[in-house]
Amino acid sequence: MSELEVTEEQRRYNEIAIKYAAKIHGARSALKASAQPVVDELFPSFNRTGLGVYREYERMGNRPVTEGLQVQADLQGVVFEHLGLTIGTVLHDIDLKQTLSSATIKLIRKTLLERKVVFFRDQHLTEDEQVSFGRRFGELDAFPFGKPGDNPYILEINHDEQRPGTENNWHTDVTWMKKPSLGSIAQCVVVPPIGGSTLFADSYAAYLGLPPEMQARLQHISGINDYRFFLMGGGGGALPEDLATEIKKEIAFGVSHPMLRTHPETGRTALYFNGGFLRHESLYDNRTGEALGVEKAKELVSFLQQQHGRPEYVCEFKWQPGSIAFWDNRAAQHYAASDYYPHKRVLRRVTVSGDRPYYNPAKK
Ligand code: SIN
Repeated sequence: MSELEVTEEQRRYNEIAIKYAAKIHGARSALKASAQPVVDELFPSFNRTGLGVYREYERMGNRPVTEGLQVQADLQGVVFEHLGLTIGTVLHDIDLKQTLSSATIKLIRKTLLERKVVFFRDQHLTEDEQVSFGRRFGELDAFPFGKPGDNPYILEINHDEQRPGTENNWHTDVTWMKKPSLGSIAQCVVVPPIGGSTLFADSYAAYLGLPPEMQARLQHISGINDYRFFLMGGGGGALPEDLATEIKKEIAFGVSHPMLRTHPETGRTALYFNGGFLRHESLYDNRTGEALGVEKAKELVSFLQQQHGRPEYVCEFKWQPGSIAFWDNRAAQHYAASDYYPHKRVLRRVTVSGDRPYYNPAKK
């Protein structure tokens, strides 16, 4: 028998498959014609990722930015390039080296609130210019655990043959702080020949894609965050014991944050945690103080990490020297792909001060 010859068994199978395809399609079409679909019911409880994106986009008015924001952008000659349906927008035709008008700062801030992360190309800011740009959005937080630039508010994120990339986990920045930074502004200085993208995930959509019973359960759960990762050698060598003890005396070690966060400006609910700083076993009910228990807590964190990183919630930003990303730590997580070793990649980051996370959907 030649390879292309169809066996009797295959022929019979295909006859049956074709018969049932027609019958099943007919039955489903009849069901669809008789009922308006309830969107939630179209997504099974174990696969609501697409629903999360749909709900977030619906909440955005089924458009990438509000009409008012689009009008402002048009008036100011700023062109939007949206990267994801609900997250990530490049703002073209803004020169951040210039002293920006308060209308332009307002436009950037509003775009950040609506799109969770904004990007700019070809800026090539000096350290001082980057710091000044950051200050237009609030006070800045210096970073104690990394290599500072010449300006002490700059953190240099350097990776090369000696230091492979370590920011390749989903996270929102500095949750070891009582008041984690509102946003981070990173500029690319050296880009690897291929790779080195940063991915950004929508924390509102990730929350909306959870089953309702999980959303309800998370309302009252908090966990303890700390910076032991840096004391143990993350981002460099392990610190001497006496230095670690000294730091712990001056910078709070172990702060509680809720797993759901109400965005203080938009009033929206976001999934909120940093898998590297959160002590996974520490989750507790913040009404009673009762611990979830090590097993249950670890299982929950692992589930939420998987949920937040699903590709549907994500946009990818490919860096070029002079590119800038400004992300809202209260509405997005990010992941720096460590896919370029042994090449060099250098970013400079400043962080804008934030406030104490809380969960209270009734409060804005
Ligand atoms: C960070 O996690 O803040 C660094 C992001 C990056 O290196 O792309």
